[in-house]
Amino acid sequence: MGRSCEAFAVPGRARAVLEGYDGAGGGTGASVDVSAAFESLVGELEYPMFIVTARVGDEPLGCLVGFATQASIDPPRFAVCLSHKNRTFRRGREADVLAVHCVPAHAEALARLFGGETADEVDKFGRCAWHEGPGAVPILDECPNWFVGRVVWRADAGDHDAFLLEPIAAGADTSADEFTFHRAKRIEPGHEA
Ligand SMILES: Cc1cc2nc3c(=O)[nH]c(=O)nc-3n(C[C@H](O)[C@H](O)[C@H](O)COP(=O)(O)O)c2cc1C
Repeated sequence: MGRSCEAFAVPGRARAVLEGYDGAGGGTGASVDVSAAFESLVGELEYPMFIVTARVGDEPLGCLVGFATQASIDPPRFAVCLSHKNRTFRRGREADVLAVHCVPAHAEALARLFGGETADEVDKFGRCAWHEGPGAVPILDECPNWFVGRVVWRADAGDHDAFLLEPIAAGADTSADEFTFHRAKRIEPGHEA
């Protein structure tokens, strides 16, 4: 099993020294550990969590994802990042479509299943209700807000790959509150980042 989810806020190893700004046009000379400052900053951000699913042959795949955002309005595009260590990525990286589910605030057990367990060890889809969507991608019954996206491109982003998605199907019930990062970060990830 992986380490604490704080790993998802840890950037690269680079250290740099910045000149602090003294407000009068000069530098304070203060040293700033950029990695530590960045880790602290992103660790305090609040944002919604998603569950990303894929289908490869007979195998349904899926994991909890925090690194995700709308990336374009017209055309509509959404970006999700999958860790190279996750089974969802290792098995599903060539998938043509991915489903992105907003996690409802009440669905902590589902978040724990998809974020705290790996399909290397556990049959996640035997423990939750789901049905097939476009391309047979799994749609989770507990998540009323979801969309299926065609993968436009995929790019190496470091220890994750970024997938740019074009929505091709969606279900929406905007009354549902979201399960957010500050709750999710108490979950120990199934795989290290
Ligand atoms: C707070 C939190 C955020 C996470 N964010 C991501 C993420 O953005 N991308 C990702 O691939 N995994 C992320 N994970 C980790 C996976 O959900 C986790 O390792 C999962 O068990 C992998 O399952 P799999 O091996 O079946 O794919 C996150 C986990 C937690 C707890």
